[in-house]
Amino acid sequence: MNDVYILAIETSCDETSMAIVKNGKKVVSFTVLTQMDVHASFGGVVPEIASRMHTENITMVLDETLQKVHMTVADVDAIAVTYAPGLLGSLLVGVECAKVLSYVYQKPLIAVNHTMGHIYANNIEHDIHYPSLALIVSGGHTDLLVLKNEREMEILGSTIDDSIGEVYDKVAKVLGMPYPGGPEIDKASLLGEDTYSLPRPMLDKTYRFSFSGLKSFIINLVHNERQRGNEIRVYDLAKSFQIVAVDELVRKVELAFQNTKIKHFVLAGGVSANKYLREQMKELCQKYEVDFEVPNILYCTDNAAMIGCAAYPLYKAKKFADFTLNAKSSEDIASYIKNTKKID
Ligand code: KG4
Ligand code: ZN
Repeated sequence: MNDVYILAIETSCDETSMAIVKNGKKVVSFTVLTQMDVHASFGGVVPEIASRMHTENITMVLDETLQKVHMTVADVDAIAVTYAPGLLGSLLVGVECAKVLSYVYQKPLIAVNHTMGHIYANNIEHDIHYPSLALIVSGGHTDLLVLKNEREMEILGSTIDDSIGEVYDKVAKVLGMPYPGGPEIDKASLLGEDTYSLPRPMLDKTYRFSFSGLKSFIINLVHNERQRGNEIRVYDLAKSFQIVAVDELVRKVELAFQNTKIKHFVLAGGVSANKYLREQMKELCQKYEVDFEVPNILYCTDNAAMIGCAAYPLYKAKKFADFTLNAKSSEDIASYIKNTKKID
């Protein structure tokens, strides 16, 4: 097969991103325009503002992505876009843009699930080997999966309440850190000591995750201490929280290593940028002699390069969308698997 160039679009939250990806691996051109600073002043993403900013910026991001490598839309083989899950208004901007480009340039349209994109970010600098265990940790997801091959996967367990990213952000907020809180906790914990005793979530032998108890405990602790006029040791609490939260992830992955004997593991999603989590997972993989892959930090949080990678198997299988494609705010990985059964 000739080289395949996919122009990918990602607008599911507060990043307007486009990329040109060659053969599902090589990032030829890549642009991310983040709105983070604007939303930070509100303490979180404001959906109305996010979609308006995507609309304002998307043509600029397209021009930049093409001009950097002196290409035009006519030079690519397909247009890929995140259609779910995410903020509806934000997703719609990307989906409509992709449909227009597909129609005008007569290029096939590929609909990509955002979470699949996070997994496929691991194909950029490595190769995903099958079968592989995959842990997806983002603002919207905490899922443990078995990737059986390029076309089939099975979900082992998910969070039964909050996602890990959500909890990082909420704990950071109560500690007075700016949005997004995950990277702030990551940095703050480096300066602290593990001196707070926190409840351990879900000490059971299932693959289900639960973080809301830990989150509520910390929020109550902070409020109670403040009401009593006591000082919160922010760095220490950040560190203690991070140790318990990451340990919950590590324990479930360890259980999966023991039960499945699978020798490949990929970490994915925004929280996979976390330094401590990366270190702990690396250590665990060394212990079980499992091959460990995690994306470069650049491709951990939302970006279009990962969408271009995830679109490639769909391109090869000729799984193209038509112009009835619509954005979907919710499609978790379990319903994605159910909806598609197999990717091809
Ligand atoms: O994958 P992502 O960019 O967006 C979603 O698909 O949700 O993930 C965003 C989440 C946020 O909760 C953010 O705080 C978290 O990833 N995050 C981190 C770090 N960098 C981003 N959490 C912990 N440590 C980090 N270094
Ligand atoms: Zn994401």
